[in-house]
Amino acid sequence: QTIYLADYTPFGYVIDDVALTFTLDPHHTRVKSRIAFRPNPESTERRFFLHGEGLKLIGASIDGAPVTPELSDEGLTCEVPDAPFIWEAEVEIDPAGNTALEGLYMSNGMYCTQCEAEGFRKITYYPDRPDVMAVFSVTINGPHPVLLSNGNPVATQEHHAEWHDPWPKPSYLFALVAGDLIAHADSFTTRSGRDVALNLYVRPGDEHKCAFGMQALKASMRWDEHVYGREYDLDLFNIVAVDDFNMGAMENKGLNIFNSSAVLASPETATDANFERIEAIIAHEYFHNWTGNRITCRDWFQLCLKEGLTVYRDSQFTADMRSAPVKRISDVIDLRARQFAEDQGPLAHPVRPESFQEINNFYTATVYEKGAEVIGMLKRLVGDAAYYQALDLYFDRHDGDAATIEDWLKVFEDSTGRDLTQFKRWYSQAGTPRVKVTETWQDGSLTLHFAQHIPPSSATPDPQPQVIPVALGLVGPNGDEVLETRMLELTEAEQSFRFDDLGARPVASILRDFSAPVVLEHDLSDDERAHLLAHDSDPFNRWEQGRILARQSLLAMIRENADPDRAYLDGIHAVVSDESLDPAYRALMLGLPSQSDLATALHDAGDVPDPAAIHKVSEAMRDALAARFAEIAPRIYQACQIDAPYRPDADQAGRRSLGNAMLSLITRHHGPAKAQAQFDAADNMTQQLAALANLIRAEAGDAALAAFESQWQHDRLVMDKWFGLQVLEAKPDDAADVAEQLTRHADFNWKNPNRFRAVFGSLAAHHAGFHHVSGKGYRLLADWLIRLDPVNPQTTARMCAAFQTWARYDAARRNMIRAELDRILATPKLSRDTTEMLTRIRGT
Ligand code: ARG
Ligand code: ZN
Repeated sequence: QTIYLADYTPFGYVIDDVALTFTLDPHHTRVKSRIAFRPNPESTERRFFLHGEGLKLIGASIDGAPVTPELSDEGLTCEVPDAPFIWEAEVEIDPAGNTALEGLYMSNGMYCTQCEAEGFRKITYYPDRPDVMAVFSVTINGPHPVLLSNGNPVATQEHHAEWHDPWPKPSYLFALVAGDLIAHADSFTTRSGRDVALNLYVRPGDEHKCAFGMQALKASMRWDEHVYGREYDLDLFNIVAVDDFNMGAMENKGLNIFNSSAVLASPETATDANFERIEAIIAHEYFHNWTGNRITCRDWFQLCLKEGLTVYRDSQFTADMRSAPVKRISDVIDLRARQFAEDQGPLAHPVRPESFQEINNFYTATVYEKGAEVIGMLKRLVGDAAYYQALDLYFDRHDGDAATIEDWLKVFEDSTGRDLTQFKRWYSQAGTPRVKVTETWQDGSLTLHFAQHIPPSSATPDPQPQVIPVALGLVGPNGDEVLETRMLELTEAEQSFRFDDLGARPVASILRDFSAPVVLEHDLSDDERAHLLAHDSDPFNRWEQGRILARQSLLAMIRENADPDRAYLDGIHAVVSDESLDPAYRALMLGLPSQSDLATALHDAGDVPDPAAIHKVSEAMRDALAARFAEIAPRIYQACQIDAPYRPDADQAGRRSLGNAMLSLITRHHGPAKAQAQFDAADNMTQQLAALANLIRAEAGDAALAAFESQWQHDRLVMDKWFGLQVLEAKPDDAADVAEQLTRHADFNWKNPNRFRAVFGSLAAHHAGFHHVSGKGYRLLADWLIRLDPVNPQTTARMCAAFQTWARYDAARRNMIRAELDRILATPKLSRDTTEMLTRIRGT
């Protein structure tokens, strides 16, 4: 059953007040609800329908008189008065039997909830839609020392807690937690002087992994005050870490719930990358308090209203806390890997989709990351000052609302006077725009001709030109900046811009800072690219030219059996040796396009990618880099070693990242001795894990893997790394077999999403292993998706995306994948989630 944006109608009733009482029991939890409804003056709909799934109705009444509602699989309907009334119901649910991790469920003995998007209907009968907002009071009875819900505590005794959340909210922001938990406590004073108690709740044993998350929370609170003028609005802010969680984290009002991997960290157990991700997710969920909670979404088609904006805000935060160029480059790498793949394949959909079957399938890179890029473009187009003015108006005008993308754009139109009709296509059209640039040079004038083209897709069969902000600079022959960055606005299918009085011909540096999420086709010569790589004042484009040179060289190695390109190796060598540059940036410069990116590039050029050949040239290029850096790598490695105590900040992390990039080159060229030494001496996970990866790659990892396992057996999050790394670093012929072996390990708890993803997310990420010509990668993943689907449809459906690029491979692989897709689809009682994903991927 498909749901359409165009069919939106408001709910027929308004809720004035909700009171819930939980009596917790693993298999027989009772939930009583008392809800004050009245007819919605803005609606003529008088059918009274409440969502409810998997609930055992014990009894219901209206204004105290028992009623017998009509029940279906999706909920209930009931005759109700044409006047305000009190609905009361009692249901029984089974949290311990809830393996889907949606609604109220149990994780290692604790109760917790995940309600977004439509999980609240598994807790009680309710209009489970985001445009129905209400004030909640919650009572919890249970034998646990810690009993939490949203808002402020009203009364607490042993085994009994009462909570009141004064801010009206939709049901998806409801949360409840109960368990034997320890609080890492702190406090924060807001700009206007409100004291807020902060707690990070963890299971006993994890207390030492809380300090960093708490610091990140306080930094986020301060940042949102300074940059967006947004203060926190309750006396209490709680975060809870949960081991079994389908996603990263959830912004429930005043009670954020986190996948433990997204909040717990200590130097010994978490890598620098983990610390950075945790900082960003803490910020993301905290920022939702304004962009998501105070202003929420009218319906789930508007998901990007809160997610795109909140991702944009958390990326600004990270850029401020760490290095802005490094953050931008990392985001672009990620965007191209995940969002571009989605936008250019069978799962393509607009940032604001117009239909869905299962909304959980639309928490995508397009809604989140392209959604954030759209905000970034808007800011580039109107300028910083106008952007923040518009945001002030947005918070003013829509506080307390369940809003739409139209509301959002209207705020910008009203505050800037700009017509955003065309800009709105970024929300309504799927597909990655391709922008082709050609140049003419005459008498000191450079003309840039732009042509934009959006490839038609089934989601957007007839795309129209979009507004594309293109940041441009011109770099002179001596490397000086002839024209400083300016924003060109493409609005037409074809458009030209002329720059006069230039003297000598400059090199155009186009799409600086990746000013729009497009594919740029700009035919520069290798010399011109090398010139930008050496001199561009824009760090993104410098990096980008290195990346393009690498890609071109790798493609020539595949197609023409060419040698690795000297100019590329020399250019990278020069940048990486430049000690005036940030080590983190130098480390990024050493990265190669991923094997999946190369497959895309080949496909785009009309070739059929061969995963084994792509793997082979990637290895050969790494060998060539190792040889080119043979002399300097040990020196840089040495210079990157840190004497001071471990800190997860950008400075130290950057040095470790460059040091570990050198370690890879050294291991390739000189063997595993240095990696073994680093493994033996490591006092932090960043160093230990990087050393281990190098040892496995050098086929010298068996002892280290065993030592690592016995050292970390007790730590789930570290063991996830142990599982994942073995698959990621396996030879292509072995990756599927290694994954299969690991599923037999006593600690392979496949019902835990983190552990499942450690093995199968890594297999899917191993391009040459997953796409092994034998088909064993496809088969293994399909076997396990079939097994997981009845247990956890949401995680199963997400994992199906591993198959989304299937159409670009050869006929043999395509046939094998199609057979696996059909095999999964033929499974009896396959979930709606997985069915929708696979039918979209497979096509007809
Ligand atoms: N709103 C959460 C976040 O972005 C994600 C929740 C996703 N939940 C889901 N069932 N898909 O911060
Ligand atoms: Zn979010």
